[in-house]
Amino acid sequence: MDIYLLLTEKCNLSCSMCIRGKQDGTNLDLNFITNEIVLKNFLGHRVVITGGEPTMHPKFPEIVNKISNYAKSVIITTNGTSHNYFSKIITKDNLHFQVSIDGDKNAHNLIRGLNTFEKTLSTIKFFDDSKVKYSIASVVNKNNIDSMENLEQELRKLNNLKFWRLSYEMPFGSSNFKNMMTVKEWNSFVDKVLCFSTIKTKIQKIFPFELVKEHAEAIKNSKIKIGQVNNCGSGKDKIYIYPDLNVYPCTCLTDFPIGNLRTETLYKILNGEKIKKFSNYTLKNEICLKCEYLTYCNGGCIGMSYHYFGELGMGDIRCPIVQNSIK
Ligand SMILES: C[S@@+](CC[C@H](N)C(=O)[O-])C[C@H]1O[C@@H](n2cnc3c(N)ncnc32)[C@H](O)[C@@H]1O
Ligand code: SF4
Ligand code: SF4
Repeated sequence: MDIYLLLTEKCNLSCSMCIRGKQDGTNLDLNFITNEIVLKNFLGHRVVITGGEPTMHPKFPEIVNKISNYAKSVIITTNGTSHNYFSKIITKDNLHFQVSIDGDKNAHNLIRGLNTFEKTLSTIKFFDDSKVKYSIASVVNKNNIDSMENLEQELRKLNNLKFWRLSYEMPFGSSNFKNMMTVKEWNSFVDKVLCFSTIKTKIQKIFPFELVKEHAEAIKNSKIKIGQVNNCGSGKDKIYIYPDLNVYPCTCLTDFPIGNLRTETLYKILNGEKIKKFSNYTLKNEICLKCEYLTYCNGGCIGMSYHYFGELGMGDIRCPIVQNSIK
C-alpha cells in the first residue's frame, strides 16, 4: 500500500492549482511519528512523504531518516525551492525524491510564483550531480499544456533523472471544475507527449474507450484482474495520514475520515468498517451500472463524484458517457 504522510500543511508557495487548497496548518508531532510502535505501521509499505511542503517541517531530515529504516521505500515529494536539509539526510537505496515542476520557466512561475522555476531547477541539478534517485512530476492544465515540450527539452540535459511523470490537474482544492481539461484534450496531449518525449515518461490516458475496445480480447484473456479496478486506489492501495493523525482514503475525500492513529493502529483502521465504503466502492448511478466499461472503470475517481455531484457513487464527470447523460 502507498501511505501518503503529510508532515505539515504549511507551505512556502501558494500554487494556483494546489489540490490541498490551503498552505497553513499544523506540523506532524515528531515524538509521535518517531515512536517505534508507530513506525512499525510502515513496515512493508511505500511511504510518500508529502505536505504542504514537507521539507518545511523543522525535523524533516530526522523523520525521513527514521521512516526509511522501516518502510519498504520512501518517496519525498517536494517543490524543490530548497535543498539545504540535504546534508542531514542519510541517503539509502529505498529513498527517492520527486520534484514538482509545472512547465517551462514562464508557465511554472505563473503557477508557482516568481523565480520558483530557477530555484527548483537548481535543486534538480543538485540532485542530478549528487546521484540521489529522483524524478520530476508535472501537473498539466489548459494553461501550461503547451509549455511541456519546452520543459522536456530542459529535462533532456539531465544525466541521472529516473523518469518524468505527467498528471492531469484534478479540480480540487485551489483548482476548479471550470478549467478542467476534457478527456479529448488530455488524451490527444498524451499522444503528443509520446511523440516528442525522448526521456522515460510516465503518463496515462483517461477513459481510453478505443484502447479498451481494441484490446478487448487480450484484456479478457489477461491474468491481470482488470475487472477488479479500484478507483485510483483510494482506501485500497493508498491512504493519507494528515498531521493531526486523521486517516483518509484520499486527499480529495477529507470529509470522510476512516480513523485516527492516536487512538487506533493502522492495522485496525485498514481492517475497519469505515474504509469499506471506499475499498468496496459501490455505484448508484444507473448510467455507470449499465455501462459496458464498468468492470474497467467502476465509476472513475471517487472524489470527482463527491465534489461534482455532492455524493458518492455517481461516476466521474470527466467521462463522456456521464456527461452525455446529464445534458
Ligand atoms: C500537494 S503537493 C505536496 C508536495 C510539494 N509541496 C509539491 O508541490 O511537490 C504533491 C503533488 O501534488 C501535485 N498537485 C498539486 N495540485 C494538484 C492538482 N490540482 N491536481 C493534481 N496534482 C496536484 C503537486 O504538483 C505535487 O506533485
Ligand atoms: S502544490 Fe505543493 S508547493 Fe504548491 S502550494 Fe501545494 S503544497 Fe505548496
Ligand atoms: S459511465 Fe461510469 S463506469 Fe462507465 S466509463 Fe463512465 S464513469 Fe466509468
